Amino acid sequence: MPDPKTFDFVIAANRLPVDQNTDDEGNVTISRSPGGLVTAMESVMRGREGAAWIGWAGETGEAPEPFEDNDMYLVPIGLSDDEHVDYYEGFSNDSIWPLYHDVIVPATFKRRWRTAYERVNQRFAQKIADLAAPEATVWVHDYQLQLAPAMVRELRPDVRIGWFNHIPFPPVELFMQLPGREDLLWGLLGADFLGFQRSADAENFLRACRRLLHVRVRGDVVHHGDGRTTRAAAVPISIDSHDVYALAHSDAVRERAAQIRKDLGNPKKLLLGVDRLDYTKGIRHRLKAYGELLAEGTLDPADVTLVQVATPSRERLQAYRTLRGQVEQTVGQINGEHSPIGSPAVTYMHRSFPREEMIALFVAADVALVTPLRDGMNLVAKEYVTCCADDGALVLSEFTGAATELARGSFLCNPHDIRSLKKTIMAAIEAPEKERRSQMRRLRKVVLDNDVQKWAGHFLAALEAAPERPAS
Ligand code: ADP
Ligand code: G6P
Repeated sequence: MPDPKTFDFVIAANRLPVDQNTDDEGNVTISRSPGGLVTAMESVMRGREGAAWIGWAGETGEAPEPFEDNDMYLVPIGLSDDEHVDYYEGFSNDSIWPLYHDVIVPATFKRRWRTAYERVNQRFAQKIADLAAPEATVWVHDYQLQLAPAMVRELRPDVRIGWFNHIPFPPVELFMQLPGREDLLWGLLGADFLGFQRSADAENFLRACRRLLHVRVRGDVVHHGDGRTTRAAAVPISIDSHDVYALAHSDAVRERAAQIRKDLGNPKKLLLGVDRLDYTKGIRHRLKAYGELLAEGTLDPADVTLVQVATPSRERLQAYRTLRGQVEQTVGQINGEHSPIGSPAVTYMHRSFPREEMIALFVAADVALVTPLRDGMNLVAKEYVTCCADDGALVLSEFTGAATELARGSFLCNPHDIRSLKKTIMAAIEAPEKERRSQMRRLRKVVLDNDVQKWAGHFLAALEAAPERPAS
């Protein structure tokens, strides 16, 4: 049955901003969903009139009824247990995710997964078609929903369709491995405008269209051959920097940050890593570098401490289990070998925290270690420079989208090169205060001048500016 309500602005992402969790007694609790997509889109959607967010509510089974949370209208999509395994864990996170992140771990392909991916994309498309008002704006998000744009176009030729990829888009030589690659490209070409984190991602997509679909590509526009076009360009995402800045400067957060430092024994240098526990994030490389710096005596555990927050993620997938084992073993080893009584060399926390606590950690840290092997953007880097003390320092991997905007002013590293990573960490720790202050001033300005509202404005303006499509 179509939903009786329709909306002028409909977004669809695999996840809703909150997960509903039902306990054994049937009590439902709501918790914030993990990841940067939610951080960014929550700020864009909160309080927006005539808007709905379609997504999975975090539990398998029948979809719960639409509900309101935090000034957003949320419409759950149901996933069966099999679809969770095949569409979400399988095709999305065991085929596409590793392939789009430079195959840091091998990508796995199963025919059953692809069928489930198509079925779930169709379910999203149908729900979008039911909820969109005439000529509405539809904004589809991320790699889990790459077929949905063309499916929506088929059902509702009147609406404007945009899609944004929160993760990298791989070079065609890697993308070509994906079963059904042409269908996926045609799925995306159902949109009027496709947004990517970096120009390199948009270029990879355009190259894949040229090579695999043999369509004409002029500049950043794909000509489908029937008079229709799709534009693909970079629109780098950001955070709600003014809101985050205000929170970081509130008395409560300042006091909490001071307390955190005190609880850690007031170290001379507090290093911080904040990541989902994902093999793309370079956590193992970071720990290796830190462990060696302690072992060599370059860093003294009496002066320096590392706080590593590792949010639980995709815990049933083997690659994530293996990583968790490796990370926890290394943390244990470093602490066993180097921690003085009562002040661990690494404080490791494998859980989620309220927003204020995360911001207090950013305020407290002297150096943030953001060392992914590949990352679409990495919002943690932007959050850190917005919150930290004026003399904070950011160690940033060249393989993040954030490095495009934040290269000047951060301590850039290649996390694969442990020797140079160690040097970069030391450079950040030892840089003269004056240098750190001027670098941080620059970084903060970049993020405050380019917040998530501006990003959404750019994306929607590009979508609006896309040419009208001729009727099919
Ligand atoms: P990804 O989307 O790959 O997880 P990002 O760095 O872009 O990576 O975004 C992660 C977001 O999740 C940030 O807003 C960060 O502050 C938040 N976050 C990370 N770990 C936690 C945690 N343990 N508790 C709460 N929020 C977290
Ligand atoms: C990244 C992806 C999001 C995803 C998030 C959390 O940010 O771009 O699409 O929601 O990770 O991952 P999960 O698999 O838990 O949704």
